[in-house]
Amino acid sequence: MKTLESLGDLRSTRVLVRSDFNVPLDGTTITDDGRIKAALPTITRLTEAGAKVIIMAHLGRPKGEVKPEYSLAPVAERLEELAGVRVTLAPDVVGPGAQSAVADLKDGQIVLLENIRFDPRETSKDDAERAELANELASLADVFVSDGFGVVHRKQASVYDIAKVLPSAAGLLVVKEIESLRRATHDPERPYAVVLGGSKVSDKLGVIANLLEKADRLLIGGGMAFTFLKAQGHEVGSSLLEEDQVEAVKGYLQTAAERGVDLLLPVDVVVAPEFAKDAPATVVDADAIPADQMGLDIGPRTQERYAEAIASAKTVAWNGPMGVFEFDAFAGGTRAVARALSEGDAFSVVGGGDSAAAVRQLGFDESTFSHISTGGGASLELLEGKTLPGIDVLED
Ligand code: 3PG
Repeated sequence: MKTLESLGDLRSTRVLVRSDFNVPLDGTTITDDGRIKAALPTITRLTEAGAKVIIMAHLGRPKGEVKPEYSLAPVAERLEELAGVRVTLAPDVVGPGAQSAVADLKDGQIVLLENIRFDPRETSKDDAERAELANELASLADVFVSDGFGVVHRKQASVYDIAKVLPSAAGLLVVKEIESLRRATHDPERPYAVVLGGSKVSDKLGVIANLLEKADRLLIGGGMAFTFLKAQGHEVGSSLLEEDQVEAVKGYLQTAAERGVDLLLPVDVVVAPEFAKDAPATVVDADAIPADQMGLDIGPRTQERYAEAIASAKTVAWNGPMGVFEFDAFAGGTRAVARALSEGDAFSVVGGGDSAAAVRQLGFDESTFSHISTGGGASLELLEGKTLPGIDVLED
């Protein structure tokens, strides 16, 4: 993969950067600026080198239409504060506004193009449409730097097609993400434990299948755990359940037993009558969930078991929260996993937007984890062993 160095001296060069600024917003307030901070090393390297930096990014899924609520304006403001250099938000993606903002750009300054997904060609399935947008974007710049790790699994104009028309290189974030995730997936130091959570088994089928061949331990939590419990023959009350995945999960349980993978499931669960912040929480055994209750977190005995399984591992990958960590009463499981990772010696990779957000929201020191990925789907696809178009195109 080509790195920034391969692009040579960048003074006065127009550098088009793809970043992932898809941050959570409450109105126009950014509630987690982790992705903007993670993009800074590359951006600062470029501005300090005297480049004219043009950034492309998306926010949400506006589906090819200009929708003001998806404007990158809050991001431009935060980026300017964090980068400490002038950031101009172009009023459009590649139109006259973007062209004139780029024409006015001075060395070491930044233009942020408006939400790239306002242009329907960005996410088009038609190669020719994406190529047309990529060519227009290319006319704004001299070189391309791919640094939006969170979108490298998308075959989109600003991620994939652009790398075919401009001299390209991976940015510092993409290099760091790939190195860390490869270390955790290719020949990991053992024991290798993977902690999987989140609401749906169906989102993680490929990952589970791939990990059953690689991991020594698989720890299951979150909403998806209830489909596993059901597959074991337990009733799960009104917990999240994917009935149509029960047979697949039975197959996984069998494969894990055959391969000697230690597949850990909750032995106790924090339940409540409804999904609500102040719902009365009680702890029950995992095989005794009352019919009128739903599981919203792993219980304390499970937390202890999972913490031990993590503490004695040499490599740990974690994707997906263990419970509804946004509500304090159901945050214990996610907190226990985060603490075990943060206090342990294993090489630890936290992937997935939700687990990364949980680590920050629960107040953990990010530097105590080996790597916190900025990618949700992208890191999951790497765990799944897939080839990602936005990475593949940089290797050409
Ligand atoms: C993410 O939030 O995972 C990335 O920004 C990708 O967004 P997308 O799933 O809308 O492509």
